[in-house]
Amino acid sequence: MPITAIVGAQWGDEGKGKITDVLAQDADLVIRFQGGDNAGHTVVNDRGEFKLHLIPAGIFNPDAVNLIGPGTVVNLLTLVEELDMLEARGISTANVRVADRAHLVLPYHVMLDRLDERERGRRKLGTTGRGVGPAYADKVARHGLQAYEVRDERRFRERIARSVELKNRILEAYGEQPLDAGQLADDQLEAAARLGDRIVSALPLVEDFVSRDARVLLEGQLGAMRDLDWGIYPFVTSSNPLAGGASIGAGIPPRLITRVIGVVKAYSTAVGEGPFPTELHGPEADALRERAGEYGATTGRPRRVGWFDAVAARYAHRLNLFTDIAVTKLDVLDVHERIPIAVRYRLNGMETDDMPPTGLLEQAQPVYETAPGWCVATTSARSREALPRRALGYLDRVSTLVGAPISMIGVGPERKATILT
Ligand code: IMP
Repeated sequence: MPITAIVGAQWGDEGKGKITDVLAQDADLVIRFQGGDNAGHTVVNDRGEFKLHLIPAGIFNPDAVNLIGPGTVVNLLTLVEELDMLEARGISTANVRVADRAHLVLPYHVMLDRLDERERGRRKLGTTGRGVGPAYADKVARHGLQAYEVRDERRFRERIARSVELKNRILEAYGEQPLDAGQLADDQLEAAARLGDRIVSALPLVEDFVSRDARVLLEGQLGAMRDLDWGIYPFVTSSNPLAGGASIGAGIPPRLITRVIGVVKAYSTAVGEGPFPTELHGPEADALRERAGEYGATTGRPRRVGWFDAVAARYAHRLNLFTDIAVTKLDVLDVHERIPIAVRYRLNGMETDDMPPTGLLEQAQPVYETAPGWCVATTSARSREALPRRALGYLDRVSTLVGAPISMIGVGPERKATILT
């Protein structure tokens, strides 16, 4: 390891949860560094199938500490539900920690997220409706509340009362019922009590692990195309899923991150709005979606599906400089005789392999090359040698186009369906 960032190289949902689950078997500390419970990390292992939203995918290693980092935004109410869900299924959550500097997602953030989407109408962003954008907006506007504030009940109640007073003005302008500050504070304090001493000062904890050369995983959410600064703004999330965001969001100095794994799906998917040049429509899309089970883990929305977009994945590599990439869901392509790969975009009569900004990307047409399919089931393969020659050819092409070597190949949802190369 020793300090490895696992980040998405596409539009999110690349399978980072699965890759984290695999690597976390040997990790001492796993940190989620950005985002909130908008994440939907699906993990399938010997304990069953789980959909994690905020808790790091290292939770299945009982010896690993799982930190919800200072760069995340935390909804205490849904976090308690997630803890309860895991405990009910026999997974201990004793090793979960929440950074005391993480910002809180409060019920008015969730309401404002949904109201803002409604106001945007046809140009809605397609958010997960979890209040993530409004919570980060409050953080940047310096109105946010941080997790440590629950420790001083009197002051917390005052802060909540002031925030609710301001937010109620907005909610009333939207025609919504005002919120009751007392009730809201009660609910937060009750959830905080349930978390108990899991709310901790993150830096000493992280430093302690780092000083012992412990194996640390930094688990990203979403992908480069949804990065606040580099993604398809405004159809982005409100934080930085890039490896650069991992340093700040986890409290790890940049020079200490020695490995950056880019996770790419063997094709592309997106939930939410915004340009997606290789998107498929109609029966071809339906067939791929069904075969791959592409439905949002948080919202249940059918995911948009398309061919592998090497321009997007290479763009992610340019921003992250992956040491290696993990290619997931290769088996989904087993049935295709020919597999298109977008290698460039055509824009205004010219071809480019650069990533244009959103308004131009909406007009870009993918330029495809076609790889021959292998038409053999790969899901039981457990080594590179066991893969069909054409599947290896496809992987080599993906690796060359992205610009980084492949270290892991996913051929099925379970932990064991992973080839380490
Ligand atoms: P938000 O993060 O809920 O504000 O949503 C912003 C954009 O990111 C929307 O397009 C969402 O669909 C997308 N998004 C948020 N979380 C995830 C995720 O975990 N997987 C895939 N897309 C996501």
